[in-house]
Amino acid sequence: MAVNENLRTPIVCVMGHVDHGKTSLLDNIRGSAVVSGEAGAITQHIGATEVPIESIVDKCGDPGLLNKFIVPGLLFIDTPGHHAFTTLRSRGGALADLAVVIVDINEGFKPQTIESLHILKQHKTPFIVVANKIDKIHGWNPQKGAPFLASYNKQSEHVRASLDTKFYEVIGELYNHGFSSDRYDRVADFQHNIGVIPISAMTGEGIPDLLMVLLGLAQRFLESNLHYDAEGPGVGTVLEVKEERGLGTTIDLILYDGTLRKGDTIVVGSLGEPIQTKVRAVLKPRVLSEINVEDKFKQVSKVTAAIGIKISAPNLDGALSGGSVRVATPETLDTVVEEVRSEVEDVQIDTDQSGITIKADTIGSLEALVNELRKEEIPIRKADVGDISNRDIVEVSAIEEPLHSVIVGFNVNILPDAKEKLQSTDVKLFMNDVIYRLIDDYKDWIKEQRA
Ligand code: GTP
Ligand code: MG
Repeated sequence: MAVNENLRTPIVCVMGHVDHGKTSLLDNIRGSAVVSGEAGAITQHIGATEVPIESIVDKCGDPGLLNKFIVPGLLFIDTPGHHAFTTLRSRGGALADLAVVIVDINEGFKPQTIESLHILKQHKTPFIVVANKIDKIHGWNPQKGAPFLASYNKQSEHVRASLDTKFYEVIGELYNHGFSSDRYDRVADFQHNIGVIPISAMTGEGIPDLLMVLLGLAQRFLESNLHYDAEGPGVGTVLEVKEERGLGTTIDLILYDGTLRKGDTIVVGSLGEPIQTKVRAVLKPRVLSEINVEDKFKQVSKVTAAIGIKISAPNLDGALSGGSVRVATPETLDTVVEEVRSEVEDVQIDTDQSGITIKADTIGSLEALVNELRKEEIPIRKADVGDISNRDIVEVSAIEEPLHSVIVGFNVNILPDAKEKLQSTDVKLFMNDVIYRLIDDYKDWIKEQRA
């Protein structure tokens, strides 16, 4: 077997609570490969790191593995918290093929750990859990870059016992949240049992195991999803809309299917009419170590999925985070515009006659919030993307039912004039960056109101 040209790179989302080590994990995966002379092969994308199969195999220390795997590598996505995952949606589901939930073994589960698990369960995305920062266990004797078991066997009995205790707390927490799990080397069937890998993002211990398990999962369970038409029209999801000096409004996106070229006509999701524009430049970030502020990106004429890129094009103001980007031809333009429009409307319009008002930062996080509220049978009058504005407050203050005179904001801010306006109304505002906290707060408040 060898790399199959018709398989795209699986997209792996790294999720978990703040400071539990997402970025450090990716730094480690990138870093050692750079040290081993692979610098040119590792690309630092926008919130996305593409790690070619050769680098992964190199990291696992067994060149024979190259013949076992047919995916071209792994594309890791890292942005704060669970944000990336909810943003990276494709119609009817999440875009990530696999996920890694990272939890600090010394701290245990935190709100965003739990939120990540909820979201993954809802989307039925295969994932593994890593219990990070094992090097912080008292008395740990670090074995740089070693597979977990090799390192574990070098620890004193006392240290091993200490790790086991903390490790089984993680397993217990997973159980409490409805997941059966075990140490990855004891898992026979990853479809029914979640594998948990003790690692250190600092020393690299356990990271070879993590990469192997991810590749194994990608091949075994995803191969059929990874076939794609490399020459087909590009399809992607907007990660961020940014102003760039000299370029105007640009979008960072993950292209997950087909090819996108300079000069292509693209249709981009927005809250109003979908944007139609022509790609002025396709910009690929260079290797991390080469980044210099003035000259960060390399212009390329085309890119093929899966990849993280920046696009510059006219009229990108109003592009929606989490919205689609689709390449269109004169023949397909009308259909593509319709597709992009209905993707946004599906989330926005599915609302009730009366109910609360919700706001979220991206179309994907809005969808996640809508889904969770629906499960709780909480009625939604209006669902929209963006910060809480004066207009939102005015609209909601006109609602007579006090239990519906409510705005729930997920990952958003309140604009200064809206904040002022809020003071003079009876509108109840809930804001949080953890969905289930929002829902709990709202439910507690409802209980109080009814008591
Ligand atoms: P956010 O992006 O803010 O959500 O955090 P993150 O999950 O990306 O965490 P990050 O990688 O920034 O790590 C947070 C802190 O933990 C940093 O100071 C890291 O150096 C430290 N850290 C991460 N992994 C390890 C580890 O395995 N061992 C030790 N000792 N420290 C670690
Ligand atoms: Mg980080």
